[in-house]
Amino acid sequence: MKTCKTNLINDSFPPAPEGITRYTSGQPIATDAAVCCIAAESINDFPYEHCFEDGRFVFSFPLEKDEIVYGLGEAPRGINKRGWLYRSFCSDDPFHTEDKQALYAAHNFLLHKGSGIFIDFPGEIRWDIGYTHADEAVITLFGTDFDIFLIGGGTPSDVVRRFRALIGPSYLPPFWALGYIQSRWSYHNAEAVKSVIRGYDEAQIPLDGICLDIDYMEHFKNFTIDREAFPDFKDFVSEVKEQGIHLIPIIDAGVKKEEGYGIYEEGRDKGYFCKNEDGSDFEAGVWPGLVGFPDFLRPEVREWFGEQYRFLTDAGIDGFWNDMNEPSIFYSKTGLEKAMEKAVRMRGRDLDLSRFFELKDAFVNLGNNPEDYADIFHEIGGRPVNHLKVHNLYGASMTRAAGEFFEKEFGKEKILLFSRASCIGAHRFGGIWFGDNHSWWSHILLCLKMLPSANMCGFLFCGADLGGFNGNTTPDLLLRFLALGVFTPLMRNHSALGTRDQECYRFDNPSDFRDIIQVRYRLIPYLYRTLHRAAEEGGMMFRPLSFDYPSDPVARECETQLMLGEECMIAPVYEQNASGRTVYLPEEMCFIKLSGERITEKRILSPGLHYVRVALNEVPLFLKKGKSIPLCRPAMRTALLDTATTEILSW
Ligand code: GLC
Repeated sequence: MKTCKTNLINDSFPPAPEGITRYTSGQPIATDAAVCCIAAESINDFPYEHCFEDGRFVFSFPLEKDEIVYGLGEAPRGINKRGWLYRSFCSDDPFHTEDKQALYAAHNFLLHKGSGIFIDFPGEIRWDIGYTHADEAVITLFGTDFDIFLIGGGTPSDVVRRFRALIGPSYLPPFWALGYIQSRWSYHNAEAVKSVIRGYDEAQIPLDGICLDIDYMEHFKNFTIDREAFPDFKDFVSEVKEQGIHLIPIIDAGVKKEEGYGIYEEGRDKGYFCKNEDGSDFEAGVWPGLVGFPDFLRPEVREWFGEQYRFLTDAGIDGFWNDMNEPSIFYSKTGLEKAMEKAVRMRGRDLDLSRFFELKDAFVNLGNNPEDYADIFHEIGGRPVNHLKVHNLYGASMTRAAGEFFEKEFGKEKILLFSRASCIGAHRFGGIWFGDNHSWWSHILLCLKMLPSANMCGFLFCGADLGGFNGNTTPDLLLRFLALGVFTPLMRNHSALGTRDQECYRFDNPSDFRDIIQVRYRLIPYLYRTLHRAAEEGGMMFRPLSFDYPSDPVARECETQLMLGEECMIAPVYEQNASGRTVYLPEEMCFIKLSGERITEKRILSPGLHYVRVALNEVPLFLKKGKSIPLCRPAMRTALLDTATTEILSW
């Protein structure tokens, strides 16, 4: 029996909380996900049925008829993960449909029958949660070097708290980051940014941040500014800061391959990019064309990359989003060459069914191709390690590079940071957003369902692209999305290139949007406190109803409502042309509707089902008996917010 986890940052960590057992197989790659010392038991003693098969580890456990399986953080489908097949493999997939198995994250935590399973393994995992056989979960790790932590029983909340003590405290953002943030791909220049500020100010809709998407850079090169678009960037940053607005630039994982571009040359000369098997730099195409991918798994590369953010923090920037870090690959140099050769070979030929699709697929499958991932090599402890063994650590390590730099330079809670790809461990360094969703009504619920799952895994600062990223939104969809976003720590409206304008002031009746976003500002002191409490206590800001009402059969199955903090329940309207929704109350609660500075309805409802009407400019919530929520006066910026309580919701 080893006395301490060898792959931890050091041995001075506190012991793990009681009730956690660690089983080790082989020589696990350091993920630094856990921050406690804990003895390693042999995998032979692992209590679930298990076996090693073709370089994989497979374990299974029976599922009882009414048992709920929680977990997997940012993932497709429901809060209860039963009945589907999931995959831990960070994936850039912009179609978040029900048939998908993976999104951008790999959050390897499962909770069933009052105990938790955390698989500390950065390679691919397949989770068959009652998919092949309804009464059985079968979990397959594509590798044999791993740690599995079993987190012992109690209530689901107890298990989560214990697990969170194992993985360390969650990232917390600065106060202003709880304000409303507007984003778009892209606000191309300073004038475009100013006009967004003007638009919000004229419509009297609060705003705290504006995201700068890839076009603020010169030819999509990280840590550069397009000087034509933003001639005096530093002055511009302080000019908008004086108006209380924070600019939040995007940083992509890949570094453009270009002679004369200092960061690329330095990365290349120092050997900091991921390699091919022969030791040459792995090159692939992303937004800027060919890029090198910094090998964020190496501490010295993280330090180097983290330092690059100084270029922007020196200009007064205090918020960032890290993107394309699964890593997303449009094509690899070799993959594209092969496809081109195929096209040349087939040129002028009569293509039958199979040939035509062979040609088409050669190009369609260029992006995020498993063969390309298999070609990438990292360096760990001076030795080459194939990317497939560590895929899920890549984006998380980019977040860590930035997060560690920010903490060292500025201290905790000073810089806003959220990332697209993540795995457990990254929750200590930054928040996440749920990636490229669509302007679909179903994506309101997808966001809602991911909130408690992400919270379990330590990701408290999170949220979805409100209004939907891909496709065209409609004002009613945006309003209903925002009415959920009022409660999510990250409240950001973002949309894709070529889609309809999605800033709130662009639509008819901007006062409806003001009414919703003002409610957010009234709630900020409460939300900030709730977020902090969840971080301090290893708790969840959002919980499934079944956590709080485990013996209520209806509450147990509820996937359209959530408990928020200790005080209330939320239930957004999620269908078009609906003037309200059906809501289930597990106990007597006070139904409250907030709109701007008004409380438009306050009514005690008995336990059971109710149809409640909610106008487009109202935010509904359900307050528990004996609980209270403080409200402050809204303001146009968090910097202008007087957080003193002006009204208390209670009954
Ligand atoms: C990715 C991001 C999206 C961003 C776009 C352009 O798709 O997920 O948020 O707008 O890249 O940078």
